[in-house]
Amino acid sequence: MTMLRVLVMNGPNLNLLGVREPEVYGTTTLEAIEARIAEKAAVLDVDVSFFQSNHEGALIDHLHEAMGVFDGVVLNPGAYTHYSYALRDAIAGVGLPVVEVHLSDIGAREDFRAVSVTAPVCIAQISGLGVDSYLEGLEVLVARLREEDR
Ligand code: DQA
Repeated sequence: MTMLRVLVMNGPNLNLLGVREPEVYGTTTLEAIEARIAEKAAVLDVDVSFFQSNHEGALIDHLHEAMGVFDGVVLNPGAYTHYSYALRDAIAGVGLPVVEVHLSDIGAREDFRAVSVTAPVCIAQISGLGVDSYLEGLEVLVARLREEDR
C-alpha cells in the first residue's frame, strides 16, 4: 500500500503566529506547529507537506495543484473562512477531503467569526484546541481516508 499524502495549508496572517495576538493564538510559531504536525504524521505513517500564503488566489491555485498529488488536506483558512466563496468553491471543486481547523474557538469570539462559509464543504471542523486542532484534524482526516480505503 502506498503512503497517504496529506497537505497542511495555512491562510493569511498565520505566518505571524508567535507574535500575532498571543493572548488569542498562543506563542507557538507556525514553524513549531508544522514540526509538531510532522511528528504526528510520522506516528500515523503518512506523508505531509506544508503551504502557507497570505493570498486567496495562491491558496486556490495550491488546492488545484493538490488534485492527484495529495489524498486530503488540513486547512486553516484564517479570515477567509468567514467570507471567501472562492476558496469554498475551490474546496468543493477539487473533490479532496478537507478538514478545517482553527486555533481559537471561532464560535466564541466576534459574531463575524462564528460563520464559516468553508466548513459546509469540509468533512469536519475542529476549532479552539490551539495546536491540537491541527493534530486532531490530521487524525480525523487520516481515519477517514483509511476507512475509505477498506
Ligand atoms: C483562525 C480564526 C480566524 O477567525 C482568524 O481570522 C485567523 C485564525 C484561527 O486559527 O483561530 O486568522 O483561523
